[in-house]
Amino acid sequence: MLEIQNLNKSFGTFKALNNLSLTVKDGELFGFVGANGAGKTTTMKICVGLERADSGSVIIDGNSVLSRRSLSVLRGKVGYVPDFFGVYADLTASEYLHFFAGTYNIWGKAADTLTDNLLELVNLSDKANTQVDSLSRGMKQKLCVARALVQNPKILFLDEPASGLDPKARHELKEILKNLSSMGKTIIISSHILPELIEMCSSIGIISHGEMKFNGSVEDALALSAGGEYIEITFSGDPGRALSLIRECPFVKTAEPTASGITLTAAGSDREYTELLRKLVTNDIPVATFAKKHENVENVFLNIMEGKTNVADNA
Ligand SMILES: Nc1ncnc2c1ncn2[C@@H]1O[C@H](COP(=O)(O)OP(=O)(O)OP(=O)(O)O)[C@@H](O)[C@H]1O
Ligand SMILES: [Mg+2]
Repeated sequence: MLEIQNLNKSFGTFKALNNLSLTVKDGELFGFVGANGAGKTTTMKICVGLERADSGSVIIDGNSVLSRRSLSVLRGKVGYVPDFFGVYADLTASEYLHFFAGTYNIWGKAADTLTDNLLELVNLSDKANTQVDSLSRGMKQKLCVARALVQNPKILFLDEPASGLDPKARHELKEILKNLSSMGKTIIISSHILPELIEMCSSIGIISHGEMKFNGSVEDALALSAGGEYIEITFSGDPGRALSLIRECPFVKTAEPTASGITLTAAGSDREYTELLRKLVTNDIPVATFAKKHENVENVFLNIMEGKTNVADNA
């Protein structure tokens, strides 16, 4: 559905995209993850024809975005929700969607039905006659999603659609996107809120400084962090010799004091952990909690972005 190959884009001497390649399959809900300035918006703008690449290719549904002729074909196939959107102050939500329907030559009863359906899809039916500028930010965001669906696109690009939304609105937006995905649309959504994308997306791309660091399934990305398990021990009093007792254990790889206690990494079995805990307790170490934890998703992705996790085979 979307195939980006060796995309390059410079602004003056600054290289914003560096040989970026990326594939998104038909019907996929794809999360585009990267820090501020990584190149997400630039990539999306090139994909929707709003920015020209210096070199490389972008193929959507068999059409090259970089050729002027196929851009008009793509116009009906591609929807785009930009990171900053302008709204037309003196229109109601319904008039706003009618306006965009008109730009795709949809008029009269067809436009009425389309507008009603889209407002229902994004849960804004009760705001049909409300002025756009008096809608809340989350409502405007949803209206923009509705606007991007006017031409019934096959592929939808959403640039940070959840930014600035409260948890309830985020959840609602997520449900709308899942719903669109189940309708068969290919969706590309950018964000720097990683856990949110992981929960919702089927595959992800991780971009850093204009380069693709990873492109694959969410499971594969998480598998890269295998071994990210650690034990956290806290104490109700002076931990005394705890650190040296822990380091004596043959299966303990690292053990470091932290603000709240001791964190250790180990290749231990649950039985060995039991032994370690018993050893601490029989040595009168005041253990309060002893818990197995996993490196959080945020860290997993930061490691990939910063090149600390080797993903050469997946990029
Ligand atoms: N029109 C422009 N002129 C000059 N530099 C630009 C232009 N557009 C983008 N850039 C630069 O290209 C880099 C990538 O920007 P881009 O907006 O694609 O990042 P992003 O991943 O979308 O970041 P954010 O999370 O902050 O939205 C940045 O360093 C930015 O300053
Ligand atoms: Mg951006």
